[in-house]
Amino acid sequence: MRAHPASAAGAADPTRRPATEAILLVGGKGTRLRPLTVHTPKPMVPAAGVPFLTHQLARARAAGVEHVVMATSYLAEVFEPYFGDGSALGLHLEYVTETDPLGTGGALRNVAHRLHSAPDEPVLVFNGDILTGLDIGALVAAHRASSADVSLHLTRVEDPRAFGLVPTDPDGRVTAFLEKPQTPEEIVTDQINAGAYVFTRALLDAIPAGRPVSVERETFPGLLADGAHLHGMVDSTYWLDLGTPEAFVRGSADLVLGRAPSPAVPGRRGEHLVLPGADVADDAKLFAGTCVAEGAVIGSGALVEGSAVLAGARIEPGAVVRDSLVGANARVGANSVLVGAVVGDNAEIGPDNELLHGTRVWCDARIPPAAIRFSSDQ
Ligand code: GTP
Repeated sequence: MRAHPASAAGAADPTRRPATEAILLVGGKGTRLRPLTVHTPKPMVPAAGVPFLTHQLARARAAGVEHVVMATSYLAEVFEPYFGDGSALGLHLEYVTETDPLGTGGALRNVAHRLHSAPDEPVLVFNGDILTGLDIGALVAAHRASSADVSLHLTRVEDPRAFGLVPTDPDGRVTAFLEKPQTPEEIVTDQINAGAYVFTRALLDAIPAGRPVSVERETFPGLLADGAHLHGMVDSTYWLDLGTPEAFVRGSADLVLGRAPSPAVPGRRGEHLVLPGADVADDAKLFAGTCVAEGAVIGSGALVEGSAVLAGARIEPGAVVRDSLVGANARVGANSVLVGAVVGDNAEIGPDNELLHGTRVWCDARIPPAAIRFSSDQ
């Protein structure tokens, strides 16, 4: 479980030794993703046919990680029955549950005693809701090469107004953690915290114990103020925060299309992914990264584009579903139109409804036939 000692790693490039331990932060309530997170914690909502977390674990494994500690809180009980000891993924998985949520930093401190790494060894930390093509090995290498205390993956965004900003100097050293900019002058960089870090292990142990701590708002600014060395590595490959329904649906479709990299997509990349046990009518059309899970039924003439249809859901004949997620065992009635909508588990949408951008149908809701229209025609 320990990182190889430098002498055994091949003298060629000791910075390329992988980090073998990671902490996954998976305890958030996922409020922005409701109703998908009513029964299921965000990292367990299926993306491209498997719980989203599977993609992150598989990518970590591919980067040399062997031991992962999951920091759980909200709906903590569902993780272990699914992933067990992690051997199916070639990993050793452990679970630590917070009775009361401790925030991102408090969660790290709370699980640190499960790590085997020495105080000066690197430990990876991942937010459990980021889909990215980050070169994990390169982040670890940058951390080792710069002898930083903490290294952060930074990504560039077109519109930084919705994010805290992380400017760096020409050597990549973080110079500030700035709140969301309020004026154009405050947009001093387009670099944002992308939710993947390498911590030198001793710094995890130094986070205050037993109380909520935000790693973004307290730990990082505090370290910087104390003169710690925080390194930012800009990696502008695929990056998406799956915190909102719109982003989650896009992430799932991008995995199916092959735009987002993952070794865990259960099938060939392409316009659609239909899992074994799904039933798709011959004349139904599936496009743009649609995933149809086991036991789901797509009726005759239905059009499903860029969407995720979860296990046991039914899309009835003639329905149109675009950029939407239909929850487990939910039903979309004949000729209904969904665009940019999410439908909670077990919900029933009667025929001839029209649910457009941003609609969230709660779990178990019942919408009668032709009850909601955005247009005046019937
Ligand atoms: P929202 O409620 O929609 O903001 O989502 P969230 O609860 O997931 O919060 P956020 O997206 O800011 O969290 C970032 C990452 O940290 C996610 O992977 C969360 O699961 C995780 N996280 C947030 N708060 C906690 C916590 O108190 N404990 C643990 N263990 N993880 C947390």
